[in-house]
Amino acid sequence: MSKYKTKVVSTGRFIPDKILTNDDLSKMVDTSDEWIYTRTGIKTRRIADESVLELAYLAGLDAIKKGNVDKNDIDLIVVATITAEQKTPSIANMVQKKLEIENTQVMTFDLNAACTGFVYALEVASALVQTNFNKALVIGVEKMTNVVDFTDRNTCILFGDAAGAMIIEKGNDDIFFYNDSKGDLTDLLTVDDKIHMDGRKVYQFAVDIIPKSINRVLEENNLTLDEIDYIIPHQANVRIIDSFIKTLNLDRDKVLINIDKYGNTSAASIPVAIDEYKDDNANSVKNVLIVGFGGGFTWGAAIIKI
Ligand code: UT7
Repeated sequence: MSKYKTKVVSTGRFIPDKILTNDDLSKMVDTSDEWIYTRTGIKTRRIADESVLELAYLAGLDAIKKGNVDKNDIDLIVVATITAEQKTPSIANMVQKKLEIENTQVMTFDLNAACTGFVYALEVASALVQTNFNKALVIGVEKMTNVVDFTDRNTCILFGDAAGAMIIEKGNDDIFFYNDSKGDLTDLLTVDDKIHMDGRKVYQFAVDIIPKSINRVLEENNLTLDEIDYIIPHQANVRIIDSFIKTLNLDRDKVLINIDKYGNTSAASIPVAIDEYKDDNANSVKNVLIVGFGGGFTWGAAIIKI
């Protein structure tokens, strides 16, 4: 059980302008709007001209502006991503440079937990701000078009580009985590040069693990679903989301679904959704449960106050 005392200072996002529709994709591979929408819930996804660094920077800047944060108060930057154009320096390190943060001491690093990346990164940052770090900028960013094979209809219809960010500090709100992984399903979803995936097996794993993760984070912290105002899941397939809604007998209005607009943006999907949710609920603090799963396999859930 992991529980920390934090405060979510602000959130932000950056969504690239360029839209790729299902009809566009049906001109590239043998597919159709009807197949994609009924099997995944996706209508459009975004394609970035920006680099992973620029996407991350713009989401971070949005969170800084929305929270009226002095950028020089930030002394920890953690970036969850699997699509950086180069292995080193880290995106987090370059975000520090681009933001011109002039602190005497700043720790910056990237974290790879595929689509669970943001939930993992948030736990790492939440733990570190319990020590002597002041403010942490946590970013989930993905330029999936860097790794998508646009000749493979099994994968190219699913993914999109985006970035989301959150600034946290030590505070009075409880934040609960259950993060986990399993290393024996590594070949079901891999990205070397391009992404390879056994969609059906990933799907089966997801529909099993998501309700279990939600129950686990609640049970370990003696909470019930009734105490959760809203659920923000990783956006991989609307059928995966509808499956856990059914398993847990949830009210669909209490679950954020934006996959129709953005597709699967991997580590960016949860922070982008959180920021959209926050825009619509600016003046109320709510108990929000986030849940993700991805390659590895990795999975995790957290309960935060936003
Ligand atoms: O963030 C985590 C990462 N990934 C995921 O969460 C993905 C999880 N998996 C999925 O979302 C689904 O498995 C997919 C959307 C990838 C595929 O849906 P499915 O219902 O599992 O389809 P399937 O792979 O079982 O394929 C059904 C049929 C096949 O044809 P046959 O063998 O029945 O003749 C495929 O060849 O659909 C065919 N197909 C397509 N047809 C039109 C596969 N992709 C396409 C396509 N357009 N894009």
